[in-house]
Amino acid sequence: MNIGIIGTGYVGLVSGTCFAEMGNTVTCVDIDEGKVQKLRSGVLPIYEPGLEVFFERNLREERLFFTTSLQEAVQSSDILFLALPTPPGEDGSADLSYVKGVADHIGRLLAADPAIGYRIIVNKSTVPVGTADAVRAILEGHGLVAGERFDVVSNPEFLREGVAVDDFMKPERVVIGTGSRRAAEIMTQLYEPFVRQGNPILVVDERSSEMIKYAANSFLATKISFMNEVANVCERVGANVDHVRRGIGLDSRIGKQFLYPGIGYGGSCFPKDVKALVYTAREHGYTFEILEAVEAVNQRQRRLLAERIIDHFGGSVEGRHFAVWGLAFKPNTDDVREAPAHEVIRRLLDAGASITAFDPEAIDTTRAVLGDAIAYAADSYSALHRADALVICTEWNEFRRPDFDKMRRLMATPLVFDGRNLYDPGRMAEAGFEYYSIGRPIGRPHPAAPSPNGQG
Ligand SMILES: NC(=O)c1ccc[n+]([C@@H]2O[C@H](COP(=O)([O-])OP(=O)(O)OC[C@H]3O[C@@H](n4cnc5c(N)ncnc54)[C@H](O)[C@@H]3O)[C@@H](O)[C@H]2O)c1
Repeated sequence: MNIGIIGTGYVGLVSGTCFAEMGNTVTCVDIDEGKVQKLRSGVLPIYEPGLEVFFERNLREERLFFTTSLQEAVQSSDILFLALPTPPGEDGSADLSYVKGVADHIGRLLAADPAIGYRIIVNKSTVPVGTADAVRAILEGHGLVAGERFDVVSNPEFLREGVAVDDFMKPERVVIGTGSRRAAEIMTQLYEPFVRQGNPILVVDERSSEMIKYAANSFLATKISFMNEVANVCERVGANVDHVRRGIGLDSRIGKQFLYPGIGYGGSCFPKDVKALVYTAREHGYTFEILEAVEAVNQRQRRLLAERIIDHFGGSVEGRHFAVWGLAFKPNTDDVREAPAHEVIRRLLDAGASITAFDPEAIDTTRAVLGDAIAYAADSYSALHRADALVICTEWNEFRRPDFDKMRRLMATPLVFDGRNLYDPGRMAEAGFEYYSIGRPIGRPHPAAPSPNGQG
């Protein structure tokens, strides 16, 4: 099939590349000329494991094209996917100006050239309930008849950054929201190669499809905030959240995933999608109380680590120096949108501390936001030089089994604040560290443990 992807961010680029990998011809459109130039010359603007191989192959085999011209994509593609930003507005509502702007432009292009046949316009962006109707109305406003010249489909995307290619190639489910049998059939054909192992393609009405995406992300965010609250109570009652997590996760009704406490959820989706669903509910006269609490708990949890650090230093970190491991909002991505690490860093900087940070992939993206406010290290150990404490914000694999002796020798104080529970508190104590994590006992150096700078 001929596919057009409008917006080549994390979702657009992964979707477009994976559609091309299945043999489709894909034209990707972006307004960012620099990005399009890069992509044309074979350079990926994002880090996403596994994407490069597919990207290079499909570029080389001429199934994947990049352009700044929407017209090119509208002319050549049977299906046009909108993978555009839907950032939160001031009031928490999803900003639909990108989606509506592009829908309007597509409407103009279709209306201006009757030779262009039937097109399916797919909302792949996460959009509030009713957006498919709004997009249809925009196209109809150009005199185009739904069902004849075009149909609108909701097809939310469930990929997770960091494993986005795997998720796209083998989705647990594909959701297609449309009232048009013709569009549903074409969309089903497009996705069949991705679900050969039997995972379902769910065809539902547009509004349910739009709601599925918000409900899914909001439920996952709820699980995270719930476990963060359990962890906070564990700390107060002397329980260990690791044991509690295992104990409840073995119940198949609860499940093992998404039960890890930490320093709050971040990223480009959960914060904005939770806010948007709260907003939608309120717009319809309903208070989504659980979700409002999920959001408030998350805000509090994102402050927790910095507050704990400042408390530890008697209320002031003025002149203190910290090492930060992990900047991305989660491992295996360079994405730092709403990254908890950035929040921790900002709070410590505001309190007068200095910071040297390391992340395997997210240094450039962080530099674009924080500039020279912090120093950047070339590797995890060089971030530790003379640090009063190490602060762990992202659970990259390479942080899981570091050389603790080397760390202790490099640091001014053997003190670790771990926002991701990477280490065992008892072992950290044996290794000579004072160790704070989330929802677990504090590790305090044993009397027989090695002395701070490794002599003993
Ligand atoms: N990132 C994720 O993990 C994820 C997962 C599922 C769903 N989503 C949803 O998918 C949508 C896109 O997310 P993303 O993370 O890929 O966003 P992104 O910000 O990474 O990418 C958006 C792209 O759209 C381009 N763009 C903006 N206006 C344009 C226009 N008029 N024409 C062409 N291109 C234009 C931008 O230049 C950018 O490259 C959002 O609604 C998001 O909520 C994201």
